[in-house]
Amino acid sequence: MHLEWAQEGKMWLGVLLMLLLCPSLEGQENSFTINHIYMEILPGREVQNGQNLTLQCVVDISTTSHIKPQHWVLFYKDDVLFHNISSVDTTESYFIPQARVYDAGTYKCTVILNNKEKTTSEYQVLVKGVSDPRVILDRKEAIEGGVVMVNCSVPEEKPPVQFTIEKLELHTNNSKQKKKKKSYDQNFVLLEFSVEEQDHIIYFQCQASIFSETHMEYSRTIRSELVTVTESFSTPKFHISPEGVITEGDQLHIRCTIQVTHLIEAFPEIIIQKDKEIVAHESKDLEATYSVMAMVEHNGNYTCKVERSWISKVSSIVVNITELFSKPKLESSTTRLDQGKSLDLWCSIPGAPPANFTIQKENTTVSESQNFTRIVSARDSGTYTCRASVGRVVKRSNAVQITVCEMLSTPRIFYDSGSEVIKGQTIAVSCQSVNGTAPISYHLLKANTILYSHDMNSNEPAVFKDKPTKDVEYQCIVDNCHSHNEMVSEVLRVKVIAPVDEVKLSILLKEDVESGKAVVLRCSVNEASGPITFSFYREKETRPFHQTTLNETQAIWHNSKASKEHEGRYYCTASNRANHVKSSPQSNILTVRVFLAPWIKGLIAVFVIGVIIAVLVLGARCYFLKKAKAKQTPVEMSRPAAPLLNSSNEKMLSDPNTEANRHYGYNEDVGNHAMKPINENKEPLTLDVEYTEVEVTSPESYQGLETKGTETVYSEIRKANPDFMENRYSRTEGSLDGT
Ligand SMILES: *[C@@H]1O[C@H](CO)[C@@H](O)[C@H](O)[C@H]1NC(C)=O
Ligand SMILES: *[C@@H]1O[C@H](CO)[C@@H](O)[C@H](O)[C@H]1NC(C)=O
Ligand SMILES: *[C@@H]1O[C@H](CO)[C@@H](O)[C@H](O)[C@H]1NC(C)=O
Ligand SMILES: *[C@@H]1O[C@H](CO)[C@@H](O)[C@H](O)[C@H]1NC(C)=O
Ligand SMILES: *[C@@H]1O[C@H](CO)[C@@H](O)[C@H](O)[C@H]1NC(C)=O
Ligand SMILES: *[C@@H]1O[C@H](CO)[C@@H](O)[C@H](O)[C@H]1NC(C)=O
Ligand SMILES: *[C@@H]1O[C@H](CO)[C@@H](O)[C@H](O)[C@H]1NC(C)=O
Ligand SMILES: *[C@@H]1O[C@H](CO)[C@@H](O)[C@H](O)[C@H]1NC(C)=O
Ligand SMILES: *[C@@H]1O[C@H](CO)[C@@H](O)[C@H](O)[C@H]1NC(C)=O
Ligand SMILES: *[C@@H]1O[C@H](CO)[C@@H](O)[C@H](O)[C@H]1NC(C)=O
Ligand SMILES: *[C@@H]1O[C@H](CO)[C@@H](O)[C@H](O)[C@H]1NC(C)=O
Repeated sequence: MHLEWAQEGKMWLGVLLMLLLCPSLEGQENSFTINHIYMEILPGREVQNGQNLTLQCVVDISTTSHIKPQHWVLFYKDDVLFHNISSVDTTESYFIPQARVYDAGTYKCTVILNNKEKTTSEYQVLVKGVSDPRVILDRKEAIEGGVVMVNCSVPEEKPPVQFTIEKLELHTNNSKQKKKKKSYDQNFVLLEFSVEEQDHIIYFQCQASIFSETHMEYSRTIRSELVTVTESFSTPKFHISPEGVITEGDQLHIRCTIQVTHLIEAFPEIIIQKDKEIVAHESKDLEATYSVMAMVEHNGNYTCKVERSWISKVSSIVVNITELFSKPKLESSTTRLDQGKSLDLWCSIPGAPPANFTIQKENTTVSESQNFTRIVSARDSGTYTCRASVGRVVKRSNAVQITVCEMLSTPRIFYDSGSEVIKGQTIAVSCQSVNGTAPISYHLLKANTILYSHDMNSNEPAVFKDKPTKDVEYQCIVDNCHSHNEMVSEVLRVKVIAPVDEVKLSILLKEDVESGKAVVLRCSVNEASGPITFSFYREKETRPFHQTTLNETQAIWHNSKASKEHEGRYYCTASNRANHVKSSPQSNILTVRVFLAPWIKGLIAVFVIGVIIAVLVLGARCYFLKKAKAKQTPVEMSRPAAPLLNSSNEKMLSDPNTEANRHYGYNEDVGNHAMKPINENKEPLTLDVEYTEVEVTSPESYQGLETKGTETVYSEIRKANPDFMENRYSRTEGSLDGT
């Protein structure tokens, strides 16, 4: 249409141009001006959906020409050109038949005349409402549990469209389900609705809504055709037998039946429930049955449920069973009793109807009558119940818990270690009553006070940990449910030995001992248990010189006469059973010094002076004798006097240990000229020397020096036996040392 118009227009345009150009060729110029341009919208700017809509563009042009000027009219919607036309008329129209929501918008038109152009203001056009939707269903009949497909469309409108579809029940007009769906690229939606068990005759209704400019436009709500729903199965029905009053002992049948439509392929499942518990079920038949001997416990609300996919139909019934006799009651004289006492149990039924009774302990029958009496032993502890029966009806009573207390046997007390415990060691003292009903409570006594308590749920020993520090006595007391007084164990004596851990060596009096006075060493320990072995050592010697075992914490070694040879460094060790042999602790080291008493020094000085004087006297005497006898025996002169003195001095110096109250006497046989002096002779000793203790009376010459009484002296006896000499000499020296 438009194309034709355009082509025709072109042709006419050519003719018109020629006509227009003619005057110009003649030299006459025409003038044009656009005075005014506006739009006219019919029937108005707001139209109902479906109304015809006309857009008119009105142009007012002034011209000097006698013919109407040719101009272009352009129509815009939302700034998009949708229609143009070349015209000579003052009014151009654009017709929209049956306006739809998408026709709403902002319109304007433009006129173009030669190089002049003018545009109208903008015109807002609203389209009210949405065209009626169409609702199409896929079926007119449905069965419960099936689905209905609903197609709702608005063929006249353009997407996006939002649809609201509702399922309703015809008789009530109640909405049963409502769904909303927006379609973005189609003007229809397809929705599936399920058919529920309460649906009978249903219909659907649909409304379309479209967003236009700033708000929503809604269609009318359109109803679909009706759908008739057929039941897939009926609501279940209960059948109870026997009818009327049901008494305990009757055979009770609870039956649940349904009917199904021929349209379904498989039976639904039938379930009979009592409270939450399923008591019967059936899925291959049209009925389910629960059969039981009626008892009061079967009273209650029974429910029959039939289910298939989401369809579930329920009915319920209350079953009331009349009690034949009450539940029996078991009573006992006591629930806790001592072994050997009498237990009485009796069973009764309120109203005392004639019944048969049995009394059972756990599942064994102990009595076939209403009463039970027994002198109990420990194994009679347990749970007792009573069964009462009238005909087929059996009822069990409450349970009675009986505890028989066996008397405890005298507890045994023992501990894990050997006979002795080392101080600081943890010991486990165990207490056990082999016989007696648990729980047993044990108390451990230590020195007659309760140290620990412990409850045992068996006859296993109760174990207590303790760390005794000294000799201790344990005892334990046990008690249980038995009425007898608590039992006391024997006394467990534990000997605790303290190991030696500190040893100290000390010297009594002074460290510097005067020679000849007593030297006393004390080795002491701290609170160790006896017997303790004390060992006294000189430093650098491996063997002790004194060892003793005592029940005391100190040992004394003494020597009544100290001499130079007792000087030295000492220590001691001490140990008892708790110490390992090698780890006997060692004491401090003590240095003992021995010095000569001042009076001995004086005595030595006096003695030396005495000897010198004696020698001088003797020398003088000899000198005079020689002088007198010089002429008779000149040979005697060859014997020198010096060696005698030398020998004596040497002895004093070389043997300082020699006790000071002894001195060397040189028993000189003056007349023995054949004797050779040792000093002069450089060759090794060939003489046998022997010291002999002899008592001598001081020579007269000494008396002058006030040395009175007898004195012990050593005489040196020389013999001409070289082999023998060495042995003798060493032995005598040894004996000196070993004082
Ligand atoms: C709308 O226009 C159509 C022609 O397109 C015409 O047949 C119809 O009668 C018009 N409707 C009204 C209400 O004018
Ligand atoms: C009007 O439409 C025709 C084709 O329909 C086009 O060729 C022409 O350019 C248009 N005129 C204007 C002014 O847009
Ligand atoms: C729904 O109905 C419309 C017509 O109302 C049709 O065009 C469309 O194809 C239908 N959709 C389906 C899925 O059948
Ligand atoms: C249900 O709606 C229809 C139409 O809207 C009406 O004719 C009918 O009376 C309504 N039924 C009831 C029960 O409200
Ligand atoms: C029995 O149970 C059903 C389901 O639990 C319930 O709906 C019904 O009210 C009950 N009946 C009675 C009498 O309690
Ligand atoms: C059951 O029946 C007895 C009488 O037989 C009646 O007293 C009682 O109230 C009933 N119980 C129920 C729950 O209906
Ligand atoms: C007693 O019997 C019942 C069932 O008869 C059983 O469940 C239970 O375990 C039994 N008890 C003993 C202690 O045997
Ligand atoms: C059972 O014991 C109860 C109470 O001790 C007594 O009253 C009753 O007579 C006894 N019954 C039988 C059958 O011994
Ligand atoms: C008790 O038991 C006996 C023997 O089994 C039976 O004959 C009698 O009927 C029973 N009594 C009752 C009340 O059930
Ligand atoms: C524990 O009981 C048994 C049997 O009753 C008995 O043989 C045993 O001597 C009892 N032991 C003690 C320690 O009483
Ligand atoms: C130490 O004392 C115990 C008993 O107290 C005694 O048996 C033992 O003979 C004593 N030992 C010595 C060495 O005295």
